[in-house]
Amino acid sequence: MLIEAPRHAEIFGSIKIYDVQKVLKLDSEKVETPLLRSFSKDEIEDILSRLIVVVPIKNEKIYLLDGVLRAIPRNCPIIVVSNSQRGKRDVFKMEKDVVAHFYNLTKHPVSIIHQKDPGLGLAFKEVGYTHILDENGFVRDGKAEGMIAGMLLAKHMGKDYIGFVDADNYVPCAVNEYIKNFAAGLCMSDSPYAMVRLHWRHKPKIIRSKLYFKKWGRVSEVTNKYLNLLLAAQTGFETHIIKTGNAGEHAMTMELANIMGYSTGYSIEPYQFIYLFEEFWRGEIKFREAASAGIEIFQIETLNPHIHEEKGEKHVKDMLHDSLSTIYHSRLSDRQLKSKILEELRANDVLKQGEKPRKTVTIPPIREIDVKTFMKVLEEYSETLVSYD
Ligand code: GDD
Repeated sequence: MLIEAPRHAEIFGSIKIYDVQKVLKLDSEKVETPLLRSFSKDEIEDILSRLIVVVPIKNEKIYLLDGVLRAIPRNCPIIVVSNSQRGKRDVFKMEKDVVAHFYNLTKHPVSIIHQKDPGLGLAFKEVGYTHILDENGFVRDGKAEGMIAGMLLAKHMGKDYIGFVDADNYVPCAVNEYIKNFAAGLCMSDSPYAMVRLHWRHKPKIIRSKLYFKKWGRVSEVTNKYLNLLLAAQTGFETHIIKTGNAGEHAMTMELANIMGYSTGYSIEPYQFIYLFEEFWRGEIKFREAASAGIEIFQIETLNPHIHEEKGEKHVKDMLHDSLSTIYHSRLSDRQLKSKILEELRANDVLKQGEKPRKTVTIPPIREIDVKTFMKVLEEYSETLVSYD
């Protein structure tokens, strides 16, 4: 694989954010020049063999899940965490069937669990991690909550890296590329605390019956702007370094996943930046080893466009609200920035005059969780966990 070398980076305390690096060729000879970075098949394979992929899903078209599973490189075990409908129209059952069929065809290791499995709630309760549970002891709704459940299963499997891909991707080969891009980014890192966030080359839309290759998603563009303004408010220097504020497709070293702070639902991705800035730049450092090793964030621009399911206007507004809320409520956000965020949310018809964004629920790191106990309880009480290995 051939990608642009990391030419520019900005440093905020222990955090180093690299500017976007474009993928130039997916399969290439080893080329060594100062402007390019190439990776041999073996280097990519080595990371892939240590990577686990989590696929959060909620009521997606079943064909899309099928395509995503088939595109995941063979070395990476898969964990599907579903919050799909059950009961009369049992979407979760269809997902389980697709997973079983996929395993029978391919022998690719894969697990699936439902987010509302009582055993999952019980396992989290048993290890004292109640931050993602609702008042009835079930894991709450939300993409982040599903991802965290997936992380716990991944932790138990003892892999070094974890990656996340959405289940609603229309182009299986794009998913295959994303995971190889994760591997390339992780390969470049000098620190055990690294993250790779993907930036789409294009996000096509149909405009006046024609495909139009848009550069930015509506929410991403706004989120990036305000994350960059937060940095500028702190440093006094304007910056455009953040281009992946809402990167649903991202990967981390397990060391970083362990000490990362999370936020509910779709606010998880922008909050990762906020958490890191608050903890490793402008805060009292709790995780000294990570602070001295440094946290590296790579942003990689994919070769493939991103074509996914459109969920409508309300969904976009909710995502915008939750993304900007994490910035608004950060203690690094000053009065001027807060008032700009309010203006933005009003202009997008998300808030009315006088309203403030509601604070999103934050979720602490998973490092202290006793995974053995968690798994023991889960295996004993789970009603939905199926693992094919
Ligand atoms: N387990 C689980 N639980 N999965 C969920 C839930 C839930 O409560 N809600 C949504 N998902 C799954 C979806 O089925 C999909 O696979 C993935 O999470 C992303 O959700 P979408 O609803 O498709 O979000 P999106 O495509 O609009 O936004 C995505 O891209 C953004 C960046 O462009 C998400 O990944 C965002 O988090 C991201 O910021």
